Amino acid sequence: MIYDYPKLYDVLFSDSWKREIEFLKTSLQRYCHISGHGRFFEPACGTGRLLWRIAKEGHQIVGLDLNPNAVAFCNKRLRRHGLAESAILGDMTRFSMTNLKQKKPFDLAFNFVSSFLHLTSESAALSHLHAVANILKPNGIYLLGLHLLPRGNAVCSQEKWSVRHGSLALQSKLFRLSLDRKQRIETVEFRIKATTPKQCYEIVDTFPLRTYSLQQFRCLLEKANRFKILETFSFDFQDPIQLNSKTEDVVFVLKTNEQYRP
Ligand SMILES: C[S@@+](CC[C@H](N)C(=O)[O-])C[C@H]1O[C@@H](n2cnc3c(N)ncnc32)[C@H](O)[C@@H]1O
Repeated sequence: MIYDYPKLYDVLFSDSWKREIEFLKTSLQRYCHISGHGRFFEPACGTGRLLWRIAKEGHQIVGLDLNPNAVAFCNKRLRRHGLAESAILGDMTRFSMTNLKQKKPFDLAFNFVSSFLHLTSESAALSHLHAVANILKPNGIYLLGLHLLPRGNAVCSQEKWSVRHGSLALQSKLFRLSLDRKQRIETVEFRIKATTPKQCYEIVDTFPLRTYSLQQFRCLLEKANRFKILETFSFDFQDPIQLNSKTEDVVFVLKTNEQYRP
């Protein structure tokens, strides 16, 4: 599995952190009205490439991930920076304040890079939304970044990018192997070719992702009855996204629904 190689993953996704961190900090002020330090939670935190940067600025953070290598990598980096080891091994469909060893709820949760699509059934997605809502303060915020699958043909089905970090050069390709619109599953292949002065190797992984059209995502939120959509962006507050049936990449700003009664 590609997530078993946290160092490679971390380098591969190292380019976009500045705008993501800015987006997180501005969201804390804009939606939670906190100008000082806040409490952030990241389900599917992976290597914690955003968590440690947020923690370094004095915010409190907790991360959760299913992959032991990613959690170990994340905690090691937190420790290296003199920060508490706050990444926990666990499933983002099943967690609570107790599992997370927390007494105070969080101001803001975030989940970017379409990690939510790893939840391949409706029941898993609903469990996740309930679990996140349960660990947030009243009026808490969940920033959920997704790649939506528009109806029709105008669909981006592959991404390629290259990154260099010191003597390590990475070339990656993420592309769709198959798409079953009825079952709402796309199977994706992720290839990383790593080159160092001493060796060259390739890692290939294949995994299923759940697909959502905009309408299907809205239906899910309605069914969960825990969040409402406040705004939608692509990490730029100057340029909100107007949702339509062709929208693909979007960060939903979700606010907990106070009307919820279990
Ligand atoms: C695309 S990576 C995103 C990592 C990180 N959020 C980031 O922005 O770099 C997806 C992560 O989701 C994790 N993941 C997948 N299914 C999960 C589950 N059910 N519970 C917790 N983590 C999960 C994987 O282990 C992986 O680290």
